[in-house]
Amino acid sequence: MLIFWYSIILITVIIILFFVWYRERYALKVKKYSICLANLPEGLAGFTVLHLSDLHGKRFGKAQQKLLYLIRQQQFDMIAITGDLVNKFNPDFGPAVELIEQLPDKQVYFVPGNHEWTTGFRQREKLVQLGVRILDNKAERIGKDEGYLWVLGVDDPHTGRDRLDEALKAAGEEPGASPAPRVLLAHSPNIFPEAAAAKVDVVLAGHTHGGQVRFPLVGAVFTPGQGLFPRWNYGRYQSGPSTMIINPGLGESDLPIRLNIKPEIVLVTLLPADRNQERKIIYGRGC
Ligand SMILES: [Fe+2]
Repeated sequence: MLIFWYSIILITVIIILFFVWYRERYALKVKKYSICLANLPEGLAGFTVLHLSDLHGKRFGKAQQKLLYLIRQQQFDMIAITGDLVNKFNPDFGPAVELIEQLPDKQVYFVPGNHEWTTGFRQREKLVQLGVRILDNKAERIGKDEGYLWVLGVDDPHTGRDRLDEALKAAGEEPGASPAPRVLLAHSPNIFPEAAAAKVDVVLAGHTHGGQVRFPLVGAVFTPGQGLFPRWNYGRYQSGPSTMIINPGLGESDLPIRLNIKPEIVLVTLLPADRNQERKIIYGRGC
């Protein structure tokens, strides 16, 4: 009889653990940030970036329908994907293609991560076919002559392929022009000191997965590239006028475990810094 009850308890514990494990990995969250910029042109007030990162070959429902359903409920103007669409242990590009093919009709910008490079970045050609703009140490202008911003991207900093100077050069302004906002996409947050020194306005990064397991008060204990108790692991960081947002990503790499850091899609809205009251009325929130 005792064995019977032990078995019931054991099965119940296993079911609960399975439920928690599944929920932590698949219950998607939407996280919204506002960043106020003094140099934001009038026409770009409210410009919103959908930021996705670190899919690692994971599927959210059949053909990504669960993820796409959530994305289609959001309003945004461009899409940034900051690397690690695949996984070094499973370089299947199918889940990423399913996602990108069905994304709303907005320009997608991509920077490679370390997992793309562990598979020789064989996905490049397919991404180009899908209409994705790859910003590996490059920059592109978004907007019209009367008001625009620069989207810059660096190749993977984790494997030392980043050349921020080249991307900044590509976003060079005409002499005498008032500086346009610069939004930098990078796989790893280790680029932040260099980006802040160059007064880049916004950095969107991934790579850390928020530590994958987060503890109360402590947060992330380890991230690759930063080691124990990483300085930049999740959320918003400020250095002078530069703001960095770290997206904890959608997937996992080595271990298929998340705890206290659910997969996220991130929305970053740029707002004018000089009209606080108006901003609150129009967008319902400050910065
Ligand atoms: Fe990753």
